[in-house]
Amino acid sequence: GQFSLAVVPECDSTNSRLMETPADDDGRIAVLAADRQTAGRGRRGRSWLSWPGAGLTFSLRWHFMPAPHMPAGLSLVVGLAVARTLEELGVEGVQLKWPNDVLIHGKKLAGILVELSSSRGRPPAAVIGIGLNLRLPADAQVESATGVTDLAACLAAPPGPNRLLGLLLGQLHHFLDLYAAAGFPALRAAWQQRNAFADLPVRIFGEAQELAGTCAGVDDDGALLLDTPEGRRRVLSGEVSLRLA
Ligand code: ATP
Ligand code: BTN
Repeated sequence: GQFSLAVVPECDSTNSRLMETPADDDGRIAVLAADRQTAGRGRRGRSWLSWPGAGLTFSLRWHFMPAPHMPAGLSLVVGLAVARTLEELGVEGVQLKWPNDVLIHGKKLAGILVELSSSRGRPPAAVIGIGLNLRLPADAQVESATGVTDLAACLAAPPGPNRLLGLLLGQLHHFLDLYAAAGFPALRAAWQQRNAFADLPVRIFGEAQELAGTCAGVDDDGALLLDTPEGRRRVLSGEVSLRLA
């Protein structure tokens, strides 16, 4: 079908813009990319840092049919689409860190922020935001538990932002279609193949919970499974952080 795409020189946050702009009446997909974000966001009010020309920052509005299992696992599916795009480009060592980071050999290359918006009389929508480092400035200071990396460190001839956006939109289209048709269970194995912390000792930090255990993958809802001395625990993707123990 039809869709609209806009690339703007600057905005506060492409996620914020799509969250606050009503969808077109026919619910078309909308993509907004910014050369520069002045207030890029991660989860829990944290920021996504970027420098002009140093990365790709964009958001996609995606409408889905309400169903009991939707949108469980969506941010994991988006991670998979990013991972496949990178693999298609020949990047090695692509891993996914639950729930929303893309790592290369353990360092963070990209972050994903999925937010839900619903307006009366329309199917619910997800605003899917992706920030990906292309070439970080030498003096970039990013505080991160994993360390950070950029695509220039992984490829001799990294693609420019426009080509990368095109490739990502193609993979997102593919994976979101699959997800809409069959839900997360159909993609769970592909996610687990790339799980950065598979079978490793990890800790979960959250508002109320702190858990330690061995990472046993994810379940059909995309919840993280932890094997603890007290048995298997499920952690729903929410306001929690995951670290290697
Ligand atoms: P956690 O692992 O604690 O759950 P997260 O990695 O999922 O955190 P958010 O909580 O969404 O991330 O917050 C975004 C985080 O991304 C920031 O706290 C910062 O550490 C990191 N970050 C910000 N800008 C960049 C960047 N350009 N490249 C890599 N990492 C970045
Ligand atoms: C994370 O690191 O956990 C999430 C970072 C998400 C960053 C992207 S950049 C495009 C979109 N707009 C935002 O403000 N955030 C997302």
